[in-house]
Amino acid sequence: MKVTVVGAGAVGATCADNIARKELCNELVLLDIKEGFAEGKAQDMMQTAALLGFDTKITGSTNDYSKTAGSDVVVITSGLPRKPGMTREELIGTNAGIVKGVCENILKYSPNAIIIVISNPMDTMTYLALTATGLPKHRIIGMGGTLDSSRFKFQLSQHLGCSPADLNALVVGGHGDTTMIPLIRYATWNSAPVTDFLTPDQQQQIVNDTMVGGATLTKLIGTSAWYAPGAAGAALVESIVRDEKKLFTCCVSLEGEYGQSDICLGVPVTIGKNGWEKIIDLQLNVDEQAAFNKSADAVRSMNDVLKTL
Ligand code: LAC
Repeated sequence: MKVTVVGAGAVGATCADNIARKELCNELVLLDIKEGFAEGKAQDMMQTAALLGFDTKITGSTNDYSKTAGSDVVVITSGLPRKPGMTREELIGTNAGIVKGVCENILKYSPNAIIIVISNPMDTMTYLALTATGLPKHRIIGMGGTLDSSRFKFQLSQHLGCSPADLNALVVGGHGDTTMIPLIRYATWNSAPVTDFLTPDQQQQIVNDTMVGGATLTKLIGTSAWYAPGAAGAALVESIVRDEKKLFTCCVSLEGEYGQSDICLGVPVTIGKNGWEKIIDLQLNVDEQAAFNKSADAVRSMNDVLKTL
């Protein structure tokens, strides 16, 4: 197995670090445009191999895509991160050009790769990757909902005083602060509905805190978060390379599912060796479906901006 992570910034490097520690592949390439940056980070990570006991060989590359040749999975993290107060959507102008160029270069050397998109605005970058490459839809996966669902579980665990690992919870819709939909009605604590243990006010607080999860961290840290985004990317890589068929919320191409088409949006899917394999059709209630439609409208107007660039 060979995996490439494009962008050796904090998210890309954390994702690569998680992939290596879990030995998800034997070859891992970290690529960046900044001279020597990916090589340095790759070497630093390789110097943990003896301490952590992993066998994955990590190589760095300064924009030389020939080194990524034959990758089975490629994670795209390139582009500008958010600054405090910035929305993910404000990054579209710069990041669209970067993501499109990365996709073209990757496919020159790895025509069969499954692509995971992390760059923001993630829903629109996933749609761009799909439309610009013309790849089969199952091979383009946007990471956003996987991260947001993990943040949702964290917020729930704080209120319930339980382990986040004991929770099942999904965030669907867009990856924007106002477009994501934490589905609290579906969330369970080891199969018991969490709504049995939380007041309506607590539920609302958890939903609100989840939605601004990324922005809260950007404010605290001064730039976009990286531990959870990197780990979310690696969790998807794991489900692909081990063909686990785990259920994650991912941003995928919809063709009528959830009443939407010609859009990539977060819905529950199984992830396996073919990329995203199956969309799980939840029976949303009227309010949830209305929120989903509103989210789709917002993402669609962001996708329309692509035409003006
Ligand atoms: C975040 C960025 C990665 O939510 O979108 O932290």
